[in-house]
Amino acid sequence: MNQKSIFYLLFTIILLFLLGNISTTDPTEPNYEFVPDMVHSVAYDAFSENPNYKDNKTLQLPPEGTIPIGFLPEYLDGELTLENAGDVLNNPLLANEINNERGAFVYHNFCSVCHGPTGAGDGSVTKRGVPPPPSIKTEKIKNMKDGELYFIISNGIGNMPPYNVQINRKDRWQLTQYIKTLK
Ligand code: HEC
Repeated sequence: MNQKSIFYLLFTIILLFLLGNISTTDPTEPNYEFVPDMVHSVAYDAFSENPNYKDNKTLQLPPEGTIPIGFLPEYLDGELTLENAGDVLNNPLLANEINNERGAFVYHNFCSVCHGPTGAGDGSVTKRGVPPPPSIKTEKIKNMKDGELYFIISNGIGNMPPYNVQINRKDRWQLTQYIKTLK
């Protein structure tokens, strides 16, 4: 062995020794962090302990009565029912082309399977044993107050399921407008 190879051999042994020392085999211990820089944030993490609060938690419960964004109740003075919805809820949208087109889009995605493409009550499921719903291209629907229709779409009626979870508020108002235009 020449001098050079002895040097490399020694160098490798020392390197392995050093690496063996700085890394740990204990799975409960963090390993060596090479250039940690910003790995540990200065701010408190959501689930870290926090001595600034009495209960020592960083994530605090919101104050009582807090309403999450997008969950503002639609009616604040009591219970909303099929009977009062028409009088207390007002359609916030303008009856224009954009709202109508969106209403049509949502109608064809969610409603036409039962109510049919034109609202006649002949949707595809009615050909497979589901009892057909009544026609919704009637004077009755056209004369209904927007709030009442909106309530029916949101909460369902009879065999019709509620759509307040699947369809957002704006889309439901657009639907309300659209179904009044069905001819
Ligand atoms: C699963 C089938 C089904 C789907 C999907 C459905 N409906 Fe209905 N709908 C019904 C049935 C059945 C009725 C009749 C309920 C009753 O009076 O017992 C009804 C009733 C209605 C009424 C009241 C009709 C009246 O004369 O009183 C409206 C308005 C209405 N649906 C609109 C919609 C809209 C808008 C959608 C889409 C979001 C929709 N429906 C989706 C089955 C459905």
